[in-house]
Amino acid sequence: MKLFSVKLRASKDGKHISGAERITPYEKINTVINQLYHRLSRKEFDSINIKIDILKEQPLLAEKTLPVVNLNFKNHREANKWAIQIIQKQTGLSEEKIKQLIDLIHSGASPDGENMRGAMIVDLRGNRLEKNRSRGVRTTDVDYLDREKIIRKLKEKCFTERTADALALTTKNMLHPDIIAEYCISDEPDYLTGYLSTKEAYYRLTPLKEKGNEKGGRIYFVKNGVDIDDIYRFLEEKPVLIKDVDI
Ligand code: COA
Ligand code: AMP
Repeated sequence: MKLFSVKLRASKDGKHISGAERITPYEKINTVINQLYHRLSRKEFDSINIKIDILKEQPLLAEKTLPVVNLNFKNHREANKWAIQIIQKQTGLSEEKIKQLIDLIHSGASPDGENMRGAMIVDLRGNRLEKNRSRGVRTTDVDYLDREKIIRKLKEKCFTERTADALALTTKNMLHPDIIAEYCISDEPDYLTGYLSTKEAYYRLTPLKEKGNEKGGRIYFVKNGVDIDDIYRFLEEKPVLIKDVDI
């Protein structure tokens, strides 16, 4: 079956507001555009860009997402302390170095002090490997084989569509053998839940950021000596479809 990638992104005054994507058969393109438009147009925008591309290669099929583990903390400091300990165990980086990187995400990790347009990549020596420190790398071309079923399952457990998207994205990341862990906070000032992923689980941490903070971002921790072009190619180009959620 021919599959298409459908991507929509909204911006205002030249600034990215939000984006979403689906992988879908030809017959459903129209429906998917309407769904994504409905979702994006809730926010004030002056431009929406729609991109439709046929998939040039067959998607990689993943059986399940990472297992979802939901954790609540007294405040964002406690949640970050916990996240730092897990990252330390996974990467061997010092807690100080990890805290420094996380602080950068909370204060705008792009060289101009704004949010990066994608994720930061950090190796086990603490070196940043992105080709461009404002852009970073963006994970795309990932979706669920049967999205309606997945959303139903997640909603039964009180999770939202936002969790579905984040879970798909990070599950794709963890499929790459050289990516060890991911740290993420949203750039929405009122969305305080963030996550930490490892090969074992998707830890959903609330609250991981301070209310009112407009800064957000992602850190992908990778092995030393990785082929950076291969990582970019996999994250930006390899289509992935996930069959089920592990909740
Ligand atoms: N943040 C800031 N700017 C962004 C952006 C983001 N997340 N995504 C795109 N842009 C802007 C940038 O200026 C970018 O230029 P750059 O490559 O120099 O940074 C420009 O838009 C074009 O980017 P492009 O990658 O061609 O956009 P696209 O039309 O292919 O759309 C998105 C990409 C928005 C769909 C994708 O980045 C995204 O975020 N997808 C959602 C991921 C997701 O949730 N997946 C799970 C689905 S189940
Ligand atoms: P979001 O999860 O959309 O709130 O995005 C939070 C932050 O993650 C953004 O500010 C970007 O720095 C980064 N980001 C956004 N989209 C992607 C993506 N597709 N892949 C990797 N990083 C992203």
